[in-house]
Amino acid sequence: MDTQNIKQRFGIIGNSPLLNRAIDIASQVAPTDMSVLITGESGSGKEVFSQIIHQMSVRKHGPFIAVNCGAIPEGTIDSELFGHEKGSFTGAHEARKGYFEVANGGTIFLDEVAELPLGTQARLLRILESGEYLRVGSSKVQKTDVRIIAATNVDVYNRVKNGKFREDLYYRLNTVPLRIPALHERKEDIYLLFRKFSADFSDKYRSPGLQLEPDAVQILTNYSWPGNVRQLKNIAEQICVLEKERNVSGQAILNYIPNEAGSNLPMTINSQSKEDFTERDILYKVLFDMKKDMVELKKLVAEIIQHGGNTATVLADNPQYINQLYRDVELPAGQEHGFTIQQPTANNNNSSNNSDYNFAHDAEEVEESLSLVDKESDLIKKALKKHKGKRKFAAQELGISERTLYRKIKELSL
Ligand SMILES: Nc1ncnc2c1ncn2[C@@H]1O[C@H](COP(=O)(O)OP(=O)(O)OP(=O)(O)O)[C@@H](O)[C@H]1O
Ligand SMILES: [Mg+2]
Repeated sequence: MDTQNIKQRFGIIGNSPLLNRAIDIASQVAPTDMSVLITGESGSGKEVFSQIIHQMSVRKHGPFIAVNCGAIPEGTIDSELFGHEKGSFTGAHEARKGYFEVANGGTIFLDEVAELPLGTQARLLRILESGEYLRVGSSKVQKTDVRIIAATNVDVYNRVKNGKFREDLYYRLNTVPLRIPALHERKEDIYLLFRKFSADFSDKYRSPGLQLEPDAVQILTNYSWPGNVRQLKNIAEQICVLEKERNVSGQAILNYIPNEAGSNLPMTINSQSKEDFTERDILYKVLFDMKKDMVELKKLVAEIIQHGGNTATVLADNPQYINQLYRDVELPAGQEHGFTIQQPTANNNNSSNNSDYNFAHDAEEVEESLSLVDKESDLIKKALKKHKGKRKFAAQELGISERTLYRKIKELSL
C-alpha cells in the first residue's frame, strides 16, 4: 500500500515530507513484530500511528488494547496490566485477567509509557524478552504473545539519565523509533487540516462551509500549535459552531487562538493588537474624562456648601461649571446652556431650602451614565453624527478600524 492509500484509509491529512516519512516507517515496520516507540508532542497523532501499525500487521484480526499508563494509579497498574489472583490484595474478590492476557495474539499500545513505575517496568521487560509474566499474587508463570507499541511525549532518555526509566527497557522498546512531527514542523499541512476539519464539522452541524481570508490562513499557519492536530481540530470545531460570519477574517480567527507571548505570528497580529490598544485607549480616555468630571463635580458641591447651599451664586461666579455640567446633555433646539441652567438657579435665590431642592434637581438633570457601554455607544453615535453616517471617517476619528466599528454598531444595535 502506498503512502497516499494509507493516508486515505486512516484519515491522515497532510503532505509534508516529515509526515510522509513517518508513514513510510510505520508501514515498513508494521508487518514485523518489532516493538515501536512512538515519540511526538501531545496531540500530534501518536495513537493514530499505533493504529496504522496494528492494522497493517498480521495481528490485525487480533485485539488492539490501548492503555494510558499515566492514568492508572501506581497501586493498581500491575494488576491492570498483568491480572491478579483472587484474594491477592484487599478488594480482590475475583481473579482478573490483565490487559496482556486479553491482548494475546494482538497488540498492546502503552501510551505515556514513561509514567510506568519501576516495578512495572521490570515486569514489562520480562514480557518483551520472553513473553512471560506473573499475575499479581501468583507465582505461576503465564505466557502471552503480544506486540508492544509504546508512546511518549516526554524525553524518555532523560528519564533514563535521572534513574526514572530502566535503560534496558528503553533500548528494548525503542527497537524502531518513530517520531511524529509536531504541527509547527509541518506548517504546510495546517491549512489542509483546517479545511478538512471545518468541512467535517460543517457537515456534522449542518452549518454553511467556512472560508478563510488570506490573513486568517497566515495566522493559523504561524501559530505554534502546542496542542498540535488535536488543538487544531478543537479550534476548527469552535469556529464552525460559534462564528456567524462564514468568511473568516484574521481578526476573527484571533478570538479563537490563545494569545502567545513572544509570538511568531505575522504582522497582521501586530496591527490587530494595535487596534485593541486603540479601543482600550478610548476606554481609558472615557474613564479619565469621568474622573475629571467627578473632581469638578466635587469642587462644585464643595463651593455650593461653602456658599450656604446657594447654587445660583456659585454658578454665577463660576460660569465654567455651567458648560461642564451641560457638556453631555442634549438640550431642546434653541436653548443655550446658560439659559437653561440659569432659570432654575435664579429662583433659588429666594430661599436656601428651595435651592437645596433645585440643586438636587439640577444634579439629576446632568447625571451622566457611568456605564462604559453607554459611553462607548455615545462616542460612536457622536462620531457617526459628526461624519454624517460615513463609517470610514467615524472610525478614523474613533481610532478604530472600520470593521471594528461595524461590529460595534451591530453589537450595540445602533
Ligand atoms: N495527520 C492527521 N490527520 C488527521 N487527523 C489527525 C492527524 N494526526 C492526528 N489527528 C487527529 O488528531 C487527534 C489527536 O491525535 P492522537 O490522539 O493520535 O494524538 P496523540 O499524539 O496520541 O496525543 P496525546 O499525546 O495527547 O495522547 C485525533 O483526533 C486524531 O484523529
Ligand atoms: Mg494519545
